[in-house]
Amino acid sequence: MIKTLLSENKKIDVLPIGLGANAIGGYNIFNNIEDDKGKKTLHHALERGINFIDTAFRYGNGHSEELIGEVLKEHNREQVVIATKGAHRLTPNGIIMDGSPAYLRETLENSLRRLKTDYIDLFYLHYPDKTIPISESIGALETFRQEGKIRYIGVSNVTLAQLKEANQNHSINALQYRYSLIERDAEDQLLPYCIKHNISFIPYGPLSYGLLGGKYTPDTVFQGNDWRTRLDVLKGKQFIDNLQRVEQLKIIANKKNTSTAALSLAWLLSQRGIDIVIPGAKSPEQVSDHLLALDISLTNQDLDEIDAIFNDLIYSKK
Ligand SMILES: NC(=O)c1ccc[n+]([C@@H]2O[C@H](COP(=O)([O-])OP(=O)(O)OC[C@H]3O[C@@H](n4cnc5c(N)ncnc54)[C@H](OP(=O)(O)O)[C@@H]3O)[C@@H](O)[C@H]2O)c1
Repeated sequence: MIKTLLSENKKIDVLPIGLGANAIGGYNIFNNIEDDKGKKTLHHALERGINFIDTAFRYGNGHSEELIGEVLKEHNREQVVIATKGAHRLTPNGIIMDGSPAYLRETLENSLRRLKTDYIDLFYLHYPDKTIPISESIGALETFRQEGKIRYIGVSNVTLAQLKEANQNHSINALQYRYSLIERDAEDQLLPYCIKHNISFIPYGPLSYGLLGGKYTPDTVFQGNDWRTRLDVLKGKQFIDNLQRVEQLKIIANKKNTSTAALSLAWLLSQRGIDIVIPGAKSPEQVSDHLLALDISLTNQDLDEIDAIFNDLIYSKK
């Protein structure tokens, strides 16, 4: 099953299940990440037909891109859509967001070198730089597109106002923003804007960072580097409530003879405006599980049953 992504007259054909690569080399985001396992996971994804890989400088501060570059040497790069992101700049005083044209050029050139390619299919401004107008950052990305160094322009983690400003010259092809059964705020304004303006909305955290995978329990604790220590959906009462919702989702997944992860991805793909999901994977087995989503067809009754579980989180019900 192939879907067409990005704006109407500039098409990229992709399998609707992509690979989120923040755990491939993302040693600064997760604990106990092993390069070999990350590379194996990526090889497996490519061998199974996944052809959209989402990474960023920030995942391993370049290491995710390096591993992807290594693995892609053994595959046909032309058949893979590479999405990466820039804006994080490491300074002696910590990390800042730098959306200046000069820094964006530097970070893009470094991404190209690490990925061992001379073009990036989709390059996102990872976060807006609050010290300069976002239109200036996007202007730089437009220049890179004219130079052939990137094919499509994306933004991530923006407000509606920032998205509108970024898109004032209709430059934006993709928005990446959190969206899953559990995190629904994009349903308010961002997703409708993307549908109206023909911008591909690419959800991140489609498994709610692992929660919808169904293996966490009230005793699960995230520690150390793990960026999940900072996520509200995995904390306190929200975490406990979400675990109970996932238990109910398991009943539907069992009836459909599938996993909660695959069911959650199939649900996302059934939403208007969603053409692809990029679940993160730490193993080949997780990748294979994601692909089960392609075999799930959801009836209106299934969708109603799922909605009933997440009823109080649905944006329009808030
Ligand atoms: N633009 C941004 O600011 C931004 C932010 C976040 C993510 N992203 C991108 O979006 C991608 C997806 O988001 P995400 O990886 O943070 O969250 P996610 O896809 O919601 O969850 C991924 C995590 O779920 C668990 N998991 C994966 N498959 C599973 C399965 N089949 N069964 C059970 N558990 C499973 C794994 O963690 P455990 O095995 O440890 O449970 C995995 O690391 C990222 O990889 C990254 O490329 C972008």
